[in-house]
Amino acid sequence: MLSVSNINVWYGAIHAIKDISFEVNDGEVVALIGANGAGKSTSLKTLSGLLRTRTGSIEFMGEDITHMPAEKIVEHGLVHVPEGRRIFQQMTVEENLDMGAYTQPRDTIAGNLERVYAHFPRLKERRRQVAGTLSGGEQQMLAMGRGLMANPKLLMLDEPSMGLAPILVEQIFEIIQALHEAGTTILLVEQNAQAALSIANRGYVMETGRITLTGTGQELLHNDDVRKAYLGG
Ligand SMILES: Nc1ncnc2c1ncn2[C@@H]1O[C@H](COP(=O)(O)OP(=O)(O)OP(=O)(O)O)[C@@H](O)[C@H]1O
Ligand SMILES: [Mg+2]
Repeated sequence: MLSVSNINVWYGAIHAIKDISFEVNDGEVVALIGANGAGKSTSLKTLSGLLRTRTGSIEFMGEDITHMPAEKIVEHGLVHVPEGRRIFQQMTVEENLDMGAYTQPRDTIAGNLERVYAHFPRLKERRRQVAGTLSGGEQQMLAMGRGLMANPKLLMLDEPSMGLAPILVEQIFEIIQALHEAGTTILLVEQNAQAALSIANRGYVMETGRITLTGTGQELLHNDDVRKAYLGG
């Protein structure tokens, strides 16, 4: 579904992504883990067209999207829920969800909204509430719901559990699994390596701009180096 070949990304003189290649197959959950500054968010931003690679190529659903504008990439079904949520604080929950559907035909929006509310009943209860007054967990649900409004074939989630209490982290991971079971392919960036690898079919470990290790979720969970570096021993 997604094939990334030898991409290199710079911020000015900083070489943030160093010749990485990876893939995501239809129906998978793939986890991308690594320490702060490893290049995880930079990778997702490059896939969604917010940053550009100097080399290599990115192919999505059989099409070369390496130089495609960001809004076209969304239209193709590659949807990015960024780190830090970035919801529209002054707008209501439902207005935020509508914004997520800007690439979609008008007649599909009502159905999509119902689908989002089925995954996130909390958002339905609060649909007239101003988004800036939602709790952190609710804001994360809204960010994910807004991504779903774009009808993703591949949903990229950047640190969905960041800053949430354990009970909410558990809920967010349950929702990710439910989305997966409902047919969405997922590329998941997480600091919570334990939770991410537990639900992932496969994973990649990033260190200072490179991919240093790959395997199934279970292989990585039981790998000694991964345990020491990311799972507390
Ligand atoms: N706008 C920017 N300008 C310059 N350097 C940047 C910029 N954004 C990120 N970087 C650098 O690129 C590297 C990768 O950053 P990135 O945000 O991709 O890391 P990350 O793996 O997502 O980390 P975290 O887990 O902390 O979110 C870091 O060294 C970071 O300082
Ligand atoms: Mg990041």
